[in-house]
Amino acid sequence: MTTNDSIETHCRTLRLPYIRDHYQTEIDDALKAKLSFHDFLLAVLRAQVVQRVDNSINRALHTAGFSSIKRLEEFDFSFQPQIDEKKIRELASLHFLDKSENIILLGPPGVGKTHLAIAIGIKACQASKRVAFYTVHKIVSELSIAHTTKSLPNLLRKIARLDLLIIDELGYMQLNEAQAALFFQLISARYEKGSIIITSNQNPDQWGTIFNDNIVATAIMDRLFHHSHPFAINGKSYRMKHFDQTSS
Ligand SMILES: Nc1ncnc2c1ncn2[C@@H]1O[C@H](COP(=O)(O)OP(=O)(O)OP(=O)(O)O)[C@@H](O)[C@H]1O
Ligand SMILES: [Mg+2]
Repeated sequence: MTTNDSIETHCRTLRLPYIRDHYQTEIDDALKAKLSFHDFLLAVLRAQVVQRVDNSINRALHTAGFSSIKRLEEFDFSFQPQIDEKKIRELASLHFLDKSENIILLGPPGVGKTHLAIAIGIKACQASKRVAFYTVHKIVSELSIAHTTKSLPNLLRKIARLDLLIIDELGYMQLNEAQAALFFQLISARYEKGSIIITSNQNPDQWGTIFNDNIVATAIMDRLFHHSHPFAINGKSYRMKHFDQTSS
């Protein structure tokens, strides 16, 4: 067995894939830069750590199930001036998770509700928090299946363990009585236990229609808005940005 074979075998045993794949380049670079043995060892170990952290963030992003990848850095606050940028940046530092507070993003289509929800969700993944992203349609269908298969307590326990639950697109689907009751159970299960980010195209005074029941809607709203950071975004649709510019 050559020295190289031995290095690779040891890397496999110790699960150091970065070092296994890059040790030759790292050695060449170290020779060129005349690194000391200490600095060489440090550089190689650091690169392996970076790869491991990146992998674990990628896994967390994948597990969260975001509908797309949207970052805070890509959000143009000047396009939506009534959004309090400072407040959003403060929330992106994730202290709201420690206090089990909610974020409520309200506004018409295209104003950036989903973008901001995902962007904060990604920050949470990067901080090793457990995050799950659902549309109302998806969560209601999972809750209904769990109810039918008698696994609802398991699903609610799993959801209660998350650091952050994101529920997107409340208002695009009307819920029947059974679905509204399940949605209420979900919100109750997380109340004062874990944060929710929810987006809706409907003002809270319309939620009675979404849930087909004013009493259930009020109970859901009450729990969501208590300890929450609500944002009412009433600006223009970013999707129509180009159209607006050419027409003005
Ligand atoms: N201020 C912004 N800066 C950069 N991109 C934006 C901004 N606002 C929205 N976008 C982009 O415009 C598109 C629509 O935004 P988004 O999906 O967040 O809208 P929404 O408020 O969730 O609308 P809907 O109610 O239709 O779901 C996305 O591609 C998003 O990344
Ligand atoms: Mg959206």
